[in-house]
Amino acid sequence: MPHRIGVLLSGRGSNFVALADSIAAGRLPGAQIALVISNREDAPGLVRAAERQIPAQVIPSKGLQREAYDNLVIAELKRAGVELVCLAGFMRLLSPYFVASFPQRILNIHPSLLPSFPGLEAQRQALEYGVKFSGCTVHLVDENLDAGPILAQSIVPVRDDDTDESLSARILAEEHRIYTDAVRLILSGNYRIEGRRVIALQNQP
Ligand code: GAR
Repeated sequence: MPHRIGVLLSGRGSNFVALADSIAAGRLPGAQIALVISNREDAPGLVRAAERQIPAQVIPSKGLQREAYDNLVIAELKRAGVELVCLAGFMRLLSPYFVASFPQRILNIHPSLLPSFPGLEAQRQALEYGVKFSGCTVHLVDENLDAGPILAQSIVPVRDDDTDESLSARILAEEHRIYTDAVRLILSGNYRIEGRRVIALQNQP
């Protein structure tokens, strides 16, 4: 049985594309993107899904209470047999009910070295704060915003002449790389969680 992944996105979808490319290139053996869900019908990520013949669906969030919306999304993910949910620029906080529906099976990518700069415009926050290094984080999702045990991080330098765009682009290249690494670790099952720490286990001989 392939590992069926569901991707939730709201926009461009480059992290989704990176995962899809990793699967196509054999970097995530046994993985398959079973469904893409967007809360916005104008999300360019939907076009990327169609180009790759990956099933995609719009579930508009406008006007719905959080739990009511999450119920619709959970139902579609379960119907598609999804076992791992990857948030890829999905700009909504998940309800505790959603988190409990996929325990330790929801991943998020965030463009900062968490716990620094959670929330919106993390790259701008980093620039304005004046940090000399920033980066990105893949973590397990809990009920809190951009929180949960960390699976992977990567560091990039912040240059004196950086703009929001140049720093975001440098971070994004690392996002694409570490999201695949994190998904591979989760699908391998070769880890244990101690408190907030995710410990990768050595491969058994
Ligand atoms: C990415 O930079 C991702 O880290 C960020 O949104 C962008 C989505 O780009 N996510 C967050 O800020 C979550 N708090 P993409 O649609 O091209 O993958």
